[in-house]
Amino acid sequence: MSDLVALAQTLGAAQYDAGGRLRHLLTLEGLRRDTLEELFSLADSLVEVGERSVKKVPLLRGKTVVLLFFEASTRTRTTFEIAAKRLSADVVTLSVSASATAKGESLLDTIANLQAMQTDAFVVRHADSGAAQLIACHVAPQVAVVNAGDGCHAHPTQALLDLYTIRQHRGSFDQLKVAIVGDVLHSRVARSQLVGLRLLGVKDIRLVGPATLVPDRMACLGGRVCHDLREGLADVDVVLMLRLQRERMAGGFVPSDREYFELYGLTETALAAARPDALVMHPGPINRGVEIASSVADCERSLILPQVTNGIAIRMAVLAQTVGRGGADDA
Ligand code: CP
Repeated sequence: MSDLVALAQTLGAAQYDAGGRLRHLLTLEGLRRDTLEELFSLADSLVEVGERSVKKVPLLRGKTVVLLFFEASTRTRTTFEIAAKRLSADVVTLSVSASATAKGESLLDTIANLQAMQTDAFVVRHADSGAAQLIACHVAPQVAVVNAGDGCHAHPTQALLDLYTIRQHRGSFDQLKVAIVGDVLHSRVARSQLVGLRLLGVKDIRLVGPATLVPDRMACLGGRVCHDLREGLADVDVVLMLRLQRERMAGGFVPSDREYFELYGLTETALAAARPDALVMHPGPINRGVEIASSVADCERSLILPQVTNGIAIRMAVLAQTVGRGGADDA
């Protein structure tokens, strides 16, 4: 095990409290497999809350959850807000343009001030890798921190909802062949998916894309690098597509959107290389005609919108485990 992998595992293990319960969720690295399975079971019991006429349970009644988004988000921010409200928490959503960081306040001063308002949990999205970890190192012992995406590092709840969606449709993981396709280099989602898939026993993981976006060295993350889309998709059970993350690119990584789509876009023709029942997934936002054709994004096998719906139950489970440090008994 390399020093960096060992360090990541140590930091990951620090997400548990002294009683072995999940205190923060910053990354999937260092988590136990049974933690993921407990979150999935809890999500199973919370999915039906969304199907009730009164979509509320009292698990986090009296708790205050602050959503702190320093980067744009549609799905993560909204589903965290819905999740916290369905658990009966009091929720405050703060975006950076409306916060005092726009006036020069440091991240840790912002956190200290919000903590002085008796906040019980912070859900944080930030452009800098490690921001959620930094906050977790500075909050009081009773305060939970959940990473809603930090730089190129991790997006643990996105990977959890992706894995949960695969579990719903395939049951188990160990025999699955999975392709992660696109801009792996800049993707926090791909990194978290890789960790989660390996933790759940998936052995055949392909990282597919041009050498500029999937350099050969990325094989060290635990997947087989393929620069040919059809070879990467051959016989796979699950296709996890990624967007070109231009906001994290310094320079031109693809010649043009049209050429990228021709070589790496998921079209019906390209998808024919996968198993006939292969699942098509994408964390969103999708760019139609760049990494995925509309006919595939909207086809019956596409789980793009069910992924969003599952995001609510998974984020409820994560908040219940970390902020509530309890089960679904009250549900
Ligand atoms: N998948 C995802 O993180 O989407 P948002 O950026 O809209 O939250």
